[in-house]
Amino acid sequence: MTDLRFDGRTVLVTGGAGGFGSATCRSFGDRGANVVVADLNLEKAQEVAADIPSALAIRMDVTDPESIQAGIQSAVDSFGGLDVLVNNAGAPNRSGPLEETSVKDMDWLYQINYRSTVIATQAALPHLRASEIGNVVNVASISAKRPRPGHAVYCSLKAGVEALTRATAVELAPEIRVNSVSPVIAETGFVKNAMGSDKIPDDVRASMVAGIPMGRTADTQDVANAIVYLASDLASFQTGVCLDVDGGRSI
Ligand SMILES: NC(=O)c1ccc[n+]([C@@H]2O[C@H](COP(=O)([O-])OP(=O)(O)OC[C@H]3O[C@@H](n4cnc5c(N)ncnc54)[C@H](O)[C@@H]3O)[C@@H](O)[C@H]2O)c1
Repeated sequence: MTDLRFDGRTVLVTGGAGGFGSATCRSFGDRGANVVVADLNLEKAQEVAADIPSALAIRMDVTDPESIQAGIQSAVDSFGGLDVLVNNAGAPNRSGPLEETSVKDMDWLYQINYRSTVIATQAALPHLRASEIGNVVNVASISAKRPRPGHAVYCSLKAGVEALTRATAVELAPEIRVNSVSPVIAETGFVKNAMGSDKIPDDVRASMVAGIPMGRTADTQDVANAIVYLASDLASFQTGVCLDVDGGRSI
């Protein structure tokens, strides 16, 4: 279906070497896009880019405005423009419950989960405006609507990403569409960062899955599919949509 093709279009994915990011990069690559895999971890970004026919791996630190600006410029220098920005990089609370969340951690959570999205969108704007399909997809979280204890700052910043999605959709229409996805828990590096272990303990997974009507956690491909759809011509009349990818968790 040509509506889901991205031939000749350039897509930049922040956090592109991680769980959702790498699946998203591969999905855009499979559909003909030039893919810029932007991540703090350059080595992993290079591994992801190696499997994609037209790709560039760059080191980008989304907590550093200059690094964001430089990364977007190198995408444009390499491929002649930028059509789709996926603001995917993000991370959970490092310090746990509210009373233990330090001001330093709050500031870092704000920078990586929210400020990065604003700054990357600002930096990409001239290029997205020059594109025929200028497009932003932000990665929020179902925890914005259905928070669990221990992640108050992260959840509220992701709610900010959803509100930012709607606000920028209004401000940037009709030239640029802005949408977001809100995934439920998936067993990526994110879980390792949140729980300090590679796998969710069986009892914790069972209690999480009990709240997901579809009876499982998210796969990275579930999230990649939603991002590709929102960026595609099939969604050309959709902007400001915050699409839950949550197996029904939000019901
Ligand atoms: N996995 C989940 O359960 C879940 C659920 C809802 C939302 N999310 C959101 O999905 C997004 C992607 O998370 P994931 O699950 O793929 O996690 P992940 O840990 O697998 O991937 C995150 C990637 O971001 C990179 N990164 C870390 N700091 C960075 C920085 N400062 N600059 C640039 N890149 C940086 C990491 O190297 C990694 O490759 C995040 O915004 C996260 O908040 C995740």
